Amino acid sequence: MELYTPTMKELLRQIEQELMDSMPPTDTLQATVSKAMAYACEEGGKRLRPLLVLLFARLCGGDEAAALPFAAAIEMIHCYSLVHDDLPCMDNSTVRRGRPSTFAAFGEDMALLAGDGLLNRAFEWGLSRRASKAVGAERALEAMRVLADASGINGMVGGQTIDLESEGKDIDLSTLQVLQAGKTGALLTAACEMGAVLGGANEEKREAARRYGMELGLCFQIVDDILDVTSSAEILGKPVGADADNRKVTFVSLLGLEAAKRYAEEHTQAALRALSVFGEEAEELTALTTALLRRNI
Ligand code: IPE
Ligand code: IPE
Ligand code: MG
Ligand code: MG
Ligand code: MG
Repeated sequence: MELYTPTMKELLRQIEQELMDSMPPTDTLQATVSKAMAYACEEGGKRLRPLLVLLFARLCGGDEAAALPFAAAIEMIHCYSLVHDDLPCMDNSTVRRGRPSTFAAFGEDMALLAGDGLLNRAFEWGLSRRASKAVGAERALEAMRVLADASGINGMVGGQTIDLESEGKDIDLSTLQVLQAGKTGALLTAACEMGAVLGGANEEKREAARRYGMELGLCFQIVDDILDVTSSAEILGKPVGADADNRKVTFVSLLGLEAAKRYAEEHTQAALRALSVFGEEAEELTALTTALLRRNI
């Protein structure tokens, strides 16, 4: 099953271009870290978060082109989170997106700095005059506030902390849900909410976008955990069996494979229900939601 429709593929082309344009020059004394930053953001990822920004911006009445800097910003945060996630002190993974992970290619020191560089670059890019001009300063600021909140201790960083501290421990489902809501859910929710903000959504639609993002985020991590035991490194572009090797508690280790699949299906339905407020115009997102449940990458 194809993950993306032709319309989405056209948006992805624009996202790739915007991301390339957003990278720092590599003819300076900081060339090594700049190259590592660009390496971490090069083609190969699914670009789901920036795609959600654009799809929600359009769904809520906004202009996709104007939302592009914000789409690039959230992908930079995601790429930085992967660079750090792969470090030896975290998941210790030498392969990402089908090639050496950033630390394996550039060393731990440059990977650490490239992650830091991307985190800041995301805010430089999303708070630039160009970005504000296209959507208005108020929406730009609000979108970047949503991103800041989701990236930090109340979001991705917090979730990663619980993830690392839970290794080798017996945690229960509610702790795993909090862990997941932070490490994966927060950025996926932020992507949907940022799109809604940029498109000028009312409170009802903004809240629906958030609810959809949370449900989708949960499904996304369950499927990520499933693929870690059922897929292969060739297809996934990252090692399989890594969660067991790192003694992680995952939806599969906690519930078993079949129950984890059912859990993902239930929450896919909940995600689809959250889209009902948008009516037929959410067709594209509906297709994406079900395709993500069946994804193999
Ligand atoms: C992987 O995210 C890490 C998780 C949050 C589960 P993605 O599966 O979106 O990774 P890329 O961007 O496609 O490589
Ligand atoms: C990582 O989750 C999520 C973030 C990077 C925030 P995982 O550790 O499960 O991601 P993969 O499986 O390495 O892509
Ligand atoms: Mg991890
Ligand atoms: Mg990992
Ligand atoms: Mg994983």
